[in-house]
Amino acid sequence: MPTVLGLSGSLRAGSLNSSLLRAAAQAMPTGVTLEIGSIKGIPLYDGDVEATEGIPHTVAALKERIVATDGLLLVTPEYNNSLPGAFKNAIDWLSRPPPDIPRVFGKRPVAVIGASPGGFGTLLSQTAWLPVLKTLGTAAYFGSRLQVSRATDVFDGHGALVDARIREQLQKFLAGFCEFVLESRRRDRNSGA
Ligand SMILES: Cc1cc2nc3c(=O)[nH]c(=O)nc-3n(C[C@H](O)[C@H](O)[C@H](O)COP(=O)(O)O)c2cc1C
Repeated sequence: MPTVLGLSGSLRAGSLNSSLLRAAAQAMPTGVTLEIGSIKGIPLYDGDVEATEGIPHTVAALKERIVATDGLLLVTPEYNNSLPGAFKNAIDWLSRPPPDIPRVFGKRPVAVIGASPGGFGTLLSQTAWLPVLKTLGTAAYFGSRLQVSRATDVFDGHGALVDARIREQLQKFLAGFCEFVLESRRRDRNSGA
């Protein structure tokens, strides 16, 4: 079964972005599963730790989860008109050591969505991810956008998606992204990759 791994860039329990990720798992098109991963427990990147102890266990395990799936969905908050440090830190660790980047990220279908209480729904954060995705050699998905604005009205107090319009947008976005993932998978299989 084709699988996408989803990561929320927020660590807090009541996260709007984690709520959006859970809603995405429920809104996937038939035939594709969304697995929910986590960046929790990933330490701050420290080159000395890497040199003496290697890649932390949490990072190594998450790398293998990415490799085992067919696509990656990043659900990003926006901090100070850019991407959140904790999420970037996780991706930075996941990009180590550099010779492993093609295996983990190379040509991997990646989509970015996000939610914020403000009016622009993580537009600037999503844009700030673009150079990172390019640098890692991913196949970034540009088929459509999903910026969930005024997100405190979109999810209820338990984190359930209660806005029918956003549910429809989410389903449409995921259908397009999953088609992109499946196309990439077919190409890889045909090329024997
Ligand atoms: C340090 C910091 C900076 C923020 N900057 C922005 C911002 O630039 N744009 C925005 O829409 N929201 C901003 N916010 C508000 C976040 O969008 C809001 O806290 C959101 O709920 C975070 O995502 P989460 O609910 O998934 O944790 C900021 C929040 C913090 C803590």
